[in-house]
Amino acid sequence: MKTLILFYSRTRKTALVAKTLAHEVNADYVEITDLDDRMGPLKYLKASVDAFRENKTLIKPATVDLKDYDLIYVGSPTWASKPAPAIITLIDQCNFLGKDVILFATMGSSGGQKVIERMREKIEPRGGRMIKSFQVKTGHRKTGEIIEDVKEIVMEEDLPIYGI
Ligand SMILES: Cc1cc2nc3c(=O)[nH]c(=O)nc-3n(C[C@H](O)[C@H](O)[C@H](O)COP(=O)(O)O)c2cc1C
Repeated sequence: MKTLILFYSRTRKTALVAKTLAHEVNADYVEITDLDDRMGPLKYLKASVDAFRENKTLIKPATVDLKDYDLIYVGSPTWASKPAPAIITLIDQCNFLGKDVILFATMGSSGGQKVIERMREKIEPRGGRMIKSFQVKTGHRKTGEIIEDVKEIVMEEDLPIYGI
């Protein structure tokens, strides 16, 4: 069974989770880039509003062909308790028909469950079936601590089993 991890990351926390995960469960990964520059304090407010309103954005790659994969992970940071616009946009541009899906959210402190629920609501009508989900808190966590947290989740949730 082939596994693919799709993620967006503004400040590299979700990227760290995704890459650790890829190593632990032997998966390929594709990072989605938001072509709207989201860096800098002034952009923070717009980013929150865009996420809250589920405004679409331009992403690269614009879509990902999932046909060679059976299991797809989708990971997003939490923005105003919503998925990042790049992930909202990506989901609507991918065909999840017949795919098992594992969803994950990173967050400073809270709101990850809402992100997962919203991604699920959007992926299920596109044919995907969520089989598991998890959240990773990144606020005040060092790189090594996040890596350890991910390894613990992989073990506790038996994640490698789903890719066999
Ligand atoms: C625009 C914006 C809104 C955010 N909103 C939330 C939030 O509602 N709850 C929360 O716990 N963290 C929030 N955060 C923090 C991020 O979810 C957290 O730092 C995440 O792990 C960052 O992932 P990244 O480094 O992959 O971009 C927000 C960050 C940004 C930039």
